[in-house]
Amino acid sequence: MNILRVENLKTYFPAPDGVFKAVDDVSFAINKGEVFGLVGESGSGKTLTALSILRLVPPPGRIAGGKVFFGLNDLMKLGEEHFRPLRGSKISMVFQEPSTALNPVFTIGEQLLEAVIAHQQSLGRHKTRDLVMHYLDRVHIQDPARVFGSYPHQLSGGTKQRVMIAMALLNMPELLILDEPTTALDVTIQAQILDLLDEIIAKEMLSILFISHDFGVIGRMCERLAVMYKGRIVEAGSAKEIFSDPKNSYTISLLESVRALA
Ligand SMILES: Nc1ncnc2c1ncn2[C@@H]1O[C@H](COP(=O)(O)OP(=O)(O)OP(=O)(O)O)[C@@H](O)[C@H]1O
Ligand SMILES: [Mg+2]
Repeated sequence: MNILRVENLKTYFPAPDGVFKAVDDVSFAINKGEVFGLVGESGSGKTLTALSILRLVPPPGRIAGGKVFFGLNDLMKLGEEHFRPLRGSKISMVFQEPSTALNPVFTIGEQLLEAVIAHQQSLGRHKTRDLVMHYLDRVHIQDPARVFGSYPHQLSGGTKQRVMIAMALLNMPELLILDEPTTALDVTIQAQILDLLDEIIAKEMLSILFISHDFGVIGRMCERLAVMYKGRIVEAGSAKEIFSDPKNSYTISLLESVRALA
């Protein structure tokens, strides 16, 4: 059973010579409870695929076509008033740029409380705070009370990323989109965040779209994956198959470059 089915998604930007096809006829499906990888070099269209699913394409970009089924609903057809309650609750995303996702003028606590209140108004003040503290603990933040009262600039990159993961989990999403969740971090912290994600995946009934340019990370985290190149999916299948017997020449060169580094 699919939780998400993307069919012929097209996201275009105006360009001097017509249109630039950042996402060019992309199709894939994610099964319930699965971690699905989207891998490709910088600029291949991974982030824009995710932003398109959430209907957050920055103008003048636009979704030029395609369907995105979340359950039985085509998300592209929902009115914004029906879409807004899904975004950040049933479908949540950890954005690629943690610094832009957290607001520098509010404390972590204020931002996490706000994220809960946006979707669960009826919870009440104490329960909302308890929920936030529970999730800070859940992502193994050492000193949750201090982090709660801190501003983003007072925290390390790894702690900020834990906060972002907590924020994405607060409203119990069915689908979590992780866009390069470890790329901005140094190697040891990267490994710690991947361990945390492993633990969360093992415990929660989550379906995940895991985006990375790093084949090693994708291979570790994902059962199935799609390889993106210049806006298109050039190869898709089980991680095992693609690692052992890649068919597409671009996939082969990507894998060779990873193996050369290893
Ligand atoms: N706001 C924008 N205006 C114009 N072009 C854009 C915009 N955002 C992205 N693009 C272009 O669309 C293409 C796909 O971008 P996208 O951010 O989806 O790539 P990506 O695969 O996520 O890359 P990275 O690994 O660097 O994050 C790129 O060529 C990028 O330059
Ligand atoms: Mg990106």
